[in-house]
Amino acid sequence: MALQFPTRAERPGKQPHAASLRERGIWPEFMYHDPVLERLFDRVISEYAEFQFYAWNDEREEVVGVGNALPATWDGRPESLPDGGLDAIVEARFADEAVRPNVLCALQILIAPECRGQELSSRMIQRMADIGQAHGLDTLIAPVRPNLKHRYPLTPIESYIAWRRPDGALLDPWLRTHERLGAEIARVAPESVRIPGAVAQWEEWTGLAFPETGSYIVSGALVPIEIDCERDEGLYLEPNVWMVHPHRAGASRAAATLIAGSADHRAHSEGPRTIHRSAAGGVCAGAHGAARFLACSYSSRSSSCCCSLRRGTRSGSWSASCCFSARCTSGIEECEETGRWSAHTP
Ligand SMILES: CC(C)(COP(=O)(O)OP(=O)(O)OC[C@H]1O[C@@H](n2cnc3c(N)ncnc32)[C@H](O)[C@@H]1OP(=O)(O)O)[C@@H](O)C(=O)NCCC(=O)NCCS
Repeated sequence: MALQFPTRAERPGKQPHAASLRERGIWPEFMYHDPVLERLFDRVISEYAEFQFYAWNDEREEVVGVGNALPATWDGRPESLPDGGLDAIVEARFADEAVRPNVLCALQILIAPECRGQELSSRMIQRMADIGQAHGLDTLIAPVRPNLKHRYPLTPIESYIAWRRPDGALLDPWLRTHERLGAEIARVAPESVRIPGAVAQWEEWTGLAFPETGSYIVSGALVPIEIDCERDEGLYLEPNVWMVHPHRAGASRAAATLIAGSADHRAHSEGPRTIHRSAAGGVCAGAHGAARFLACSYSSRSSSCCCSLRRGTRSGSWSASCCFSARCTSGIEECEETGRWSAHTP
């Protein structure tokens, strides 16, 4: 699949989306009724277009994945990541006294169902982190929605996120994907998504009847919904998991050291500021070892290239990012082995 990852700022206007992404059914219906997102998501897209991006399939000429992120402010302490997770980050950005951002916060990554299971999500996370880095936001934080938690709605999230497989990897696939890219669990955001509604609304959204007050298990919800018939209120408080990705300036510097000494390539620890072209996978002139590029962005202004790469197997791999000047061509996913790249464990 030949993919590019343009931002909405680079590729404005209405894009043809894969049919499966146009449908409203990606999320359970109630997830489309978060009042914070109903009020502010359009502003996320229009006012922060440079942080929204697509996975664009060149052959099908359509969007097969979407990544949304928003600059945020964080003092670096796990305990100060907000309980209110996703909602809190969005509200804070549009508050009257929003503080100057210093990190990028992931809001969501969506991949067309027919394109799942091909590691595209890792490329999307790397692209998101690259975009942040290109804007001087060197840390990516994410209120991650564990994508199998809905199958264990009665298990406290604190227990669920500690579950690991026999090979040591996290049981939850989406948490595992973030961890594999170097992210660490910082804390739980117990009220990341807050969805209130009248009982009749909840009945409409879920297709269930709620004849009496109580807790109800609802398809697609990570925890039970609380229904109060006397007050005519239903409430869903979705817990997410704050994960923090490695600081990118450090990763860049470390990777730059690895290619220092290479006669024909100069390392740029800063990374390109203006990205004119994105390539889905790519190889830079010359050979750089048997590394698989997850995403590669080329800046024609500085003639520099910023790549994320991954080496090894799915279960035991490392990933790194580095920026260096070189010419890029797109569409090549494997580089030849020359031994120029060395392993860098974030
Ligand atoms: C979550 C999502 C982005 C993952 O995308 P993807 O491209 O399929 O992910 P990958 O191919 O990289 O797979 C990541 C891991 O999840 C596993 N996985 C993916 N879907 C799974 C499923 N339904 N059940 C169990 N495991 C699953 C893969 O096996 C892989 O694990 P492994 O590498 O340890 O074997 C995609 O499924 C999606 O868009 N879901 C709907 C929206 C969503 O939940 N977004 C995330 C929260 S914002």
